[in-house]
Amino acid sequence: MSLSDEDIVRAAQSIRAGGLVAFPTETVYGLGANALDATAVARIFAVKGRPATSPLIVHVPSIDMARVIAAEWPAHAEKLGRQFWPGPLTVVVRKHQRIPDVVTAGLPTVAIRVPSHPVAQALLREAGVPIAAPSANRFTQLSPTTAEHVRAALGDAVDCILDGGPTTVGIESTVVSLAGDVPYLLRPGMIARQDIERLIGACGARANGDRPPDEAHESPGQHPRHYCPRTRTLLLMDGNVPAGRGAYLFHSRPAQSCQRNVEMPASPEAYAAALYRTLHDLDGESLDWIAVEHPPDQPEWAAILDRLRRACGK
Ligand code: TXA
Ligand code: MG
Repeated sequence: MSLSDEDIVRAAQSIRAGGLVAFPTETVYGLGANALDATAVARIFAVKGRPATSPLIVHVPSIDMARVIAAEWPAHAEKLGRQFWPGPLTVVVRKHQRIPDVVTAGLPTVAIRVPSHPVAQALLREAGVPIAAPSANRFTQLSPTTAEHVRAALGDAVDCILDGGPTTVGIESTVVSLAGDVPYLLRPGMIARQDIERLIGACGARANGDRPPDEAHESPGQHPRHYCPRTRTLLLMDGNVPAGRGAYLFHSRPAQSCQRNVEMPASPEAYAAALYRTLHDLDGESLDWIAVEHPPDQPEWAAILDRLRRACGK
């Protein structure tokens, strides 16, 4: 698992030559290509089976490089970047023309993130180009949190997989749009809404009935069936599991009637870090169902609840 400088150099060469490199970030593994190379980016869509209407996140090593791919850099972006980068936050701003349209699905905006994972940082710095990368899974499937997940999902379709061990945050970054009149939370993540609002004031959200900028384009994280195990997955308030062979993921109380209770961490951070790995593992067991105890109705669990709802196809 331990990567050498040579591995990074080779992966960076592959990126510059138009290749696809799967790499770890602190959230999930990404499937990366040179964001300035439209042909390379088109391969990402082909390999994932992702609709061309779903824009990608562009990864850069620093806030300075983020400014370079934006047409304008709002004060809110500067504030958020200074506070949370490198880290699991993505901001959407108006795009610089040097970013090809295929990256942003034709939108005039671009999603930008500075990841903190040392392997992602090393790759970005060595490649010397911004890297467009969605999660390294096939469209609508669970995001990968280990190199093994990437191999199982994409295998030979990628030129290189950098194995940086299991990811630590475990679910995808928080996405905030700064391209409209007011900031808008497009996807909840482990950087919580309150952390963001403390810095830049109130953000719109679908839950409040607000409309996001660019509503015409369905963003991939907003597809209802996203992050889905193949096994039927249910969210339960009461621990009343169905008949048949299944597993119950609990964080407070096991289900009396269930043969197979799987204990999840009680803190949201540790829970998020374990969630996809647990679902990937159980999904490999040909169970009739996976049931999950409803997480607490508290803001720090919001992103986990969002992913669980999607895993259930809600
Ligand atoms: O943690 C993460 O964000 C991971 C790692 C690899 O960085 N990436 C990831 O990418 O989850 P993906 O493609 O699976 O999700 C991209 C998200 C979508 O939910 C979409 O809402 C948003 O980014 N997005 C990208 N470009 C956008 C744009 N121009 N306008 C609005 N939303 C955009
Ligand atoms: Mg994804």
